[in-house]
Amino acid sequence: MTKAIEAALFLHLLGVAVWIGGMVFAHFCLRPALGDLAPQLRLPLWEAVFARFFNWVAGAVIVILLTGGFLLAQFGGGHAAWPLHAMAGLGIVMMLIFGHIRFGVFPRIRRAVQAQNWPDGARAVGTVRRLVVVNLVLGIVTIGTAVLSRGF
Ligand code: HEM
Repeated sequence: MTKAIEAALFLHLLGVAVWIGGMVFAHFCLRPALGDLAPQLRLPLWEAVFARFFNWVAGAVIVILLTGGFLLAQFGGGHAAWPLHAMAGLGIVMMLIFGHIRFGVFPRIRRAVQAQNWPDGARAVGTVRRLVVVNLVLGIVTIGTAVLSRGF
């Protein structure tokens, strides 16, 4: 393995750790801990958390895409093992879902918090929660697919 491939794999896995680890923390630790707070406190807090976390995810997505594209080219491009193409496909679906969360749903949370419209805000946070579960499942399947590619 060349140094460039090692460096790309290192950054690729760092990006994956930030994204998947952040989703695990938000879903399994932060969400249940905030469950009892009144919406007036809970929703502005979610808005502030998401504003920061989504910047980290955007950075991770760029790193994963660049390093993944580079690695795919090194591992044969169009002729690479099918699990690598499956990883790329699943990764792109995850990125599209993130784009929808960031640019479709998150602005609804912002608007609801500004207008103090708590029912709308709670609905939008619920949508983020469901989409994060989908991305978490896809992320775990993608990691499994990536490891599977070793056998090909
Ligand atoms: C555009 C999207 C992506 C592309 C093109 C891509 C491509 C690649 C390539 C070519 C490798 C090297 C495989 C090897 O070392 O044998 C790799 C490794 C890996 N990728 Fe991705 N990837 C993408 C997205 C993702 C995502 C979203 C995840 C996880 C959620 C992920 C998880 C991994 C893991 C865990 C490895 C290490 C596998 C190993 O070395 O056994 N990748 N990726």
